[in-house]
Amino acid sequence: ENIVHDRIDYVFKVVVLGDSAVGKTQILSRFVKNEFYFDSKSTIGVEFQTKTVTINDKVIKAQIWDTAGQERYRAVTSAYYRGALGAMLVYDITKRQSFDHVARWVEELRTHADSSIVIMLIGNKGDLVDKRIVTTEDALEFAQDQNLFFSETSALSGENVESAFITLLQEIN
Ligand code: GTP
Repeated sequence: ENIVHDRIDYVFKVVVLGDSAVGKTQILSRFVKNEFYFDSKSTIGVEFQTKTVTINDKVIKAQIWDTAGQERYRAVTSAYYRGALGAMLVYDITKRQSFDHVARWVEELRTHADSSIVIMLIGNKGDLVDKRIVTTEDALEFAQDQNLFFSETSALSGENVESAFITLLQEIN
């Protein structure tokens, strides 16, 4: 991708949240670099990547923050959430516990992030069809109840990854 952006209209900070190993880092690397790794290492601390996209003739630079899902690495400071306009809240469709914890992550966002933050619930690993535990219906019901956008993705195949980010960025406006 060698598009030259001669101007940037908006910089949007987005945070990625969810339990360890649900695929947060891989969703991000699929969106930003169109890459995927099977032997992805657990994130330590906080990292961010940027991607510039054009939506409705506006050039938007997304600054996307990725953090460790593992409790022991998490120093949840308000700095991580400060200025965040969007959040990708990820669970693994093959891990019930990662979905059960989504309510806690929403709680954390409601506590630390701006009340106007746009939240997208993501059921990742959609390619693992035979291992699915969390149904689309259950997740959709939760999302509607909590006022979250919802999408199911696969960082491995790439399915819905870009559209989920674009929808989130579009809704921030
Ligand atoms: P932490 O950094 O510990 O919070 O984990 P994470 O949520 O960033 O997970 P990560 O992206 O490191 O992915 C964890 C594992 O799941 C890796 O082995 C990935 O290759 C695998 N994985 C991620 N996304 C997918 C997916 O869509 N499908 C499949 N089959 N595997 C995936």
